[in-house]
Amino acid sequence: MTANLRKAASLAGRYLSPGKPHHAQWLITRKCNYRCVGCNVWKEQDERELTATEIKKGLDILKELGIVELTISGGDPLLRSDIAEILDYASERFLTTVYDNGSMVTKKINTLRKVDFVAISIDSLDEAKNDAIKAMPGAWKNAMNAVDVLQKEGIQVAVTPTISQKNLYEIKDLTTYFTERKIPMWFCLYSYDTSVDSKQLFRIGKANDEFIITDKEAMVELCRQLGEMMKKNKNILMTKKLLKALQGLYEPKEKRIWKCEALNQFLVVDHLGRISGCHNHNFAGSIFDLSTQWSSDKFRTLRKIYHDCTQCNYLCYIAYSLYGGPKSTIALAKDQWKNAALLFK
Ligand SMILES: C[S@@+](CC[C@H](N)C(=O)[O-])C[C@H]1O[C@@H](n2cnc3c(N)ncnc32)[C@H](O)[C@@H]1O
Ligand code: SF4
Ligand code: SF4
Repeated sequence: MTANLRKAASLAGRYLSPGKPHHAQWLITRKCNYRCVGCNVWKEQDERELTATEIKKGLDILKELGIVELTISGGDPLLRSDIAEILDYASERFLTTVYDNGSMVTKKINTLRKVDFVAISIDSLDEAKNDAIKAMPGAWKNAMNAVDVLQKEGIQVAVTPTISQKNLYEIKDLTTYFTERKIPMWFCLYSYDTSVDSKQLFRIGKANDEFIITDKEAMVELCRQLGEMMKKNKNILMTKKLLKALQGLYEPKEKRIWKCEALNQFLVVDHLGRISGCHNHNFAGSIFDLSTQWSSDKFRTLRKIYHDCTQCNYLCYIAYSLYGGPKSTIALAKDQWKNAALLFK
């Protein structure tokens, strides 16, 4: 069996086993070379981080636990000098996505050859506007060049704008622009730290009035438009159910059609190996104790608390929660198989 087929078979086995978490986000560094206005990470950088050997040990634990899909983020993960070792190890075990702001791709192109997706964040087609959001001159050129280089090199690239009031009216055109060039789109939704827990594991952003979506009608319309576009466009990496959940948040009478599955279907790991259900809560333990902690009373209690929590709109968490139950997992697994050509090229 080829390595890709072995990986596919192993992933499918994990996907279809019930009662296991399938998604993890590992924020492997807090270092960043950009100064994005809506992001808090660069304001609270931390030189400390796990070694590649420790991360590899943690990845083994995540695989054992049932994780299928791994997102490697930060900070900017490609700033780590040992990123090649980490990505190779992760890509052999998980459906692996790595996020980059676009600044490091050309320098580190060889480290990206095995990953399933490289997600490049671009918030606007307007260069000046994008660079103002990223607070970094040259950010737009870097990111557009990164997308181009990845596509030419045959590495699966996706573009991920963060939807906010700043770029809400541009998302449709941004989506058309990239998907016409056969580049898949995934979306982040601007969010900010809530007061769920004063000791949040990972502080992503403080509330910023310019970014918070106030034109709710336009957001509902955007969801409708993306739904229409998806009928003909396979490169919009959303599902109908996810769009419905998103739209519900902005309807005149807010609807949350999902219950949060943090620490049940998904978990986050920070740069020091601390884990939590989501980045909005204090850490619940260490990745290195995860196997024993997973079935503990402490985790059972936390799951119940998270299940009733309605404190965030973080799009990845909504997706992971929606695809939590065994039936949804099978539906998602089928979807992934339909996209097998994209995933296991
Ligand atoms: C935190 S960054 C880390 C990876 C990398 N540095 C990058 O910018 O792609 C991951 C994603 O989160 C998005 N992001 C930044 N601030 C955010 C916020 N306040 N709410 C939601 N997403 C945010 C970024 O635009 C990016 O797409
Ligand atoms: S969004 Fe990414 S590139 Fe921008 S400051 Fe945050 S971590 Fe850095
Ligand atoms: S809704 Fe879930 S993911 Fe969001 S803050 Fe609450 S527990 Fe965390």
